[in-house]
Amino acid sequence: MRTLQVKLIETSYSIVVGRGLVEKLDRFLKRLGPARKVLVVTERRAASLHLARLEKGLRKGKVSYQVFFLQGGEGAKSAAELSRIYAALARNRFERRDILIAFGGGGVGDVAGFAAATYLRGLPLLQIGTTLLAQVDSSIGGKTGINLPEGKNLVGAFYQPSLVLSDVTLLKTLPRRELTASLAEVIKVGVIRDRELFQYVEKNLDSILAADLTALEHIVFSSARIKAGVVERDEKETRGERMILNYGHTFGHAFEAAQDYRGLRHGEAVALGMAAAARLSRNRGWLRPADEMRQNRLLERAGLPTHWNRLAFKEDRVIRHMLLDKKIKGGKLRFVLPTALGRVRIADDVTLSEVKKTLRELGGKQVP
Ligand SMILES: NC(=O)c1ccc[n+]([C@@H]2O[C@H](COP(=O)([O-])OP(=O)(O)OC[C@H]3O[C@@H](n4cnc5c(N)ncnc54)[C@H](O)[C@@H]3O)[C@@H](O)[C@H]2O)c1
Ligand SMILES: [Zn+2]
Repeated sequence: MRTLQVKLIETSYSIVVGRGLVEKLDRFLKRLGPARKVLVVTERRAASLHLARLEKGLRKGKVSYQVFFLQGGEGAKSAAELSRIYAALARNRFERRDILIAFGGGGVGDVAGFAAATYLRGLPLLQIGTTLLAQVDSSIGGKTGINLPEGKNLVGAFYQPSLVLSDVTLLKTLPRRELTASLAEVIKVGVIRDRELFQYVEKNLDSILAADLTALEHIVFSSARIKAGVVERDEKETRGERMILNYGHTFGHAFEAAQDYRGLRHGEAVALGMAAAARLSRNRGWLRPADEMRQNRLLERAGLPTHWNRLAFKEDRVIRHMLLDKKIKGGKLRFVLPTALGRVRIADDVTLSEVKKTLRELGGKQVP
């Protein structure tokens, strides 16, 4: 078991990474103060696989608890589902010291987190991610929220959890494609800030894909440490540093949107986005071709896409979505571009013609 401390201006919390943490929930609950009640917000799939283990820990903790089921996947992040959580909290007369546990993937974490942020203006929140994405990314950093019919993540709040528990044994049941897609975010962290993590994934890819617990513990802890550090220095994305976590995401979001969020998993779109950002950087002479290739080779070995010859994107649709993206300032496009493995810089003067060139280059077979 390893613990990280996230120290923010107004608050501080721990991220605990290990095995069998959910069964020991009683010990962790004690740290959060004198709760009388707990609402576990989860969804059917994560619950059918792992809720019994969490309940063991809850029973040992002798708190009264209720389990609340959200729709699975992205459907969880709706105003309707959020209202149902509020109603459950109100019906059960939750008070400000009572605890909300988000037990699921990033979807559950986002909506349950937003409910915790807003019900009675804030309940203690315990994030227990059951997907690799949740453990390496979404449970850390305090971004919570829901989607609107008009767009993703349009309503939300920064609200830090009181504790994050990342029990890697929960990841054993993830389908291969989920694991692979989330691995894109881990490789992303390696490319932006942690060359050692990148090398670790290169070396231990087979163990990671086989859900070997030692390997998972290593990548979850390393990714969490980097994200926590970035968040500590730029909690609310006001100083630019937090933006580096968006590496691959400006292109990635545009690819996802151009496919109406069907087809590509988020992590797969991010992998394509990383390939695109690396190419753009290389075209500017900022990144050595050897580093671009090394990044892409790892993504491909992991089973992630790096070019889209088979994906049938319409270039103009991708561009249109990119222009709608909130990362665009004053007509120029802003991108996080790698300059070496483990290092990135922000360019806010990227022209549309650079973007188009990149899209054309990566739309066909990979250019060595
Ligand atoms: N708040 C943030 O900082 C942040 C960061 C990144 C992503 N996100 C959000 O996270 C969401 C995506 O999260 P996700 O990738 O975890 O997807 P998800 O929550 O949709 O879960 C993916 C799938 O895995 C299943 N699942 C969950 N746990 C499982 C387990 N242990 N074994 C087997 N299957 C399991 C779920 O039923 C679901 O079908 C998006 O809504 C995205 O916007 C938020
Ligand atoms: Zn992402």
